[in-house]
Amino acid sequence: MEAMDAILTRRSIRRYTDRPVADEVVVELLRAAMAAPSAQNQQPWQFIVVRDRSLLTKMAHVSRYSGMVGGAQAAVVVCGDLTNERSPGFWVEDCAAATQNLLIAAHALGLGAVWVGIYPRRERVDRLRDLFKPPEEVIPFAVIPIGYPAENPGPVDRFDRERVHFDRW
Ligand SMILES: Cc1cc2nc3c(=O)[nH]c(=O)nc-3n(C[C@H](O)[C@H](O)[C@H](O)COP(=O)(O)O)c2cc1C
Repeated sequence: MEAMDAILTRRSIRRYTDRPVADEVVVELLRAAMAAPSAQNQQPWQFIVVRDRSLLTKMAHVSRYSGMVGGAQAAVVVCGDLTNERSPGFWVEDCAAATQNLLIAAHALGLGAVWVGIYPRRERVDRLRDLFKPPEEVIPFAVIPIGYPAENPGPVDRFDRERVHFDRW
């Protein structure tokens, strides 16, 4: 799929079929995530790949809006790693870029996925910390459930000329 097609037709997918997602496909998604730009190229990310059904079920309860994780074939927890920060604070933008890359790659490969927001909601961060016990300086940022789509919401065009300002406001 062409890059523009993938960007313009991606939608959040919250229902998945039982078709397994191969390990090699997950690696490709992570390759796309790690291709993201980052401040001073600091790449302040770590990824937890979750396939264990009981863990996926528990992750469904991390927030009011994470129920679909229980029906996914896999989930990736995108984490910020503050260990070697070169550009303090920018880990959030860096992890967001990695998350978006992963979502677009998933769509381009025929998968469905959705960004489940974790950081900066303290209780969601803490629930994931309780589940995975990452080191102190690693902060769960987002959860991305992945599977082959069992819904097809179709593309939307959100282009809005009124949001665009040329040379002056
Ligand atoms: C920071 C962020 C957090 C989000 N958190 C959730 C979430 O917790 N649960 C969910 O179902 N969707 C979540 N979404 C997905 C949005 O609801 C979705 O992107 C938006 O409604 C636009 O729809 P689309 O992705 O299909 O274009 C999140 C998206 C972003 C960018």
